Amino acid sequence: MDRLLDLQVKIDDILNQRSIEEKGKILALIEDAANFVEELKEEGHTQDGKLLEHVYKRIESLFITEEVRMEEISLDEFLDDLCNEAISSMWERDLTIIRSFEKDLIITMDRAILRKVCIGLLRNAIENTPDEGKIEITAQSGDSVIQVNVHDYGVGITEENQKMIFGGFFHTQDTDLYSSKRHYEFNAGGSGSDLLRLKSFSERFGFSVDFGSTRCRFIPTDGDRYPGRISACHFITNKSECFSSGGSTFSIKFATNI
Ligand SMILES: Nc1ncnc2c1ncn2[C@@H]1O[C@H](COP(=O)(O)OP(=O)(O)OP(=O)(O)O)[C@@H](O)[C@H]1O
Ligand SMILES: [Mg+2]
Repeated sequence: MDRLLDLQVKIDDILNQRSIEEKGKILALIEDAANFVEELKEEGHTQDGKLLEHVYKRIESLFITEEVRMEEISLDEFLDDLCNEAISSMWERDLTIIRSFEKDLIITMDRAILRKVCIGLLRNAIENTPDEGKIEITAQSGDSVIQVNVHDYGVGITEENQKMIFGGFFHTQDTDLYSSKRHYEFNAGGSGSDLLRLKSFSERFGFSVDFGSTRCRFIPTDGDRYPGRISACHFITNKSECFSSGGSTFSIKFATNI
């Protein structure tokens, strides 16, 4: 019971810091989580305390951030480190990550949050691009904005799925296909929470998120099967055909105070 009360207090704390729209989303998540616990109970799993703890940890990992510390961040160094980290985490994946960062770009942001945002986009790009493929990550300044683009030459997202990907707990991969995969593997996918979290951060910290995507024309529907390596794809005869057949770009824009 103590645990339940504790959970209630912590959830109230989270909700008190949010906008009405965010509260609605979080309450919907909690309802889903509660239904999930109920279902597990019906199936005979009786360790309610542990389950609630687990559910709480999930919600916490999605929405609670440690104390926010805004600081000036040198974007080119930051993104460079992040790319190195992704490359060393992606094991035997065979991908080229092309970096192009304008020098001396400084933004003011919480470092941990910026990390979650950028690594989430980079990981999605890696997970949705076949081996021998490429991803471009750029940072540049424009009209009172600093823009980071993560552009992959991967499978792309169908128009139907484009409407859902920021909604949370949505992934386009077949559950059977992705559930046993590790982060960064082709077609891995996860809980479908990174983009939802990104949206929530963007509302809270005042940056914008845009994306555009073209689904690979050879695999127009979710059910289409494809290999995880360009040279094993029988629809095409060379890499450039793959590069021109589909892909996605996710962009985040920070206002500059010039
Ligand atoms: N660059 C991309 N190319 C193709 N599909 C993408 C891309 N980025 C996201 N998606 C689709 O959007 C879905 C949601 O992305 P999101 O990052 O929120 O969740 P996820 O990657 O499945 O899991 P996790 O919470 O572990 O990141 C993904 O499962 C994927 O189907
Ligand atoms: Mg993801």
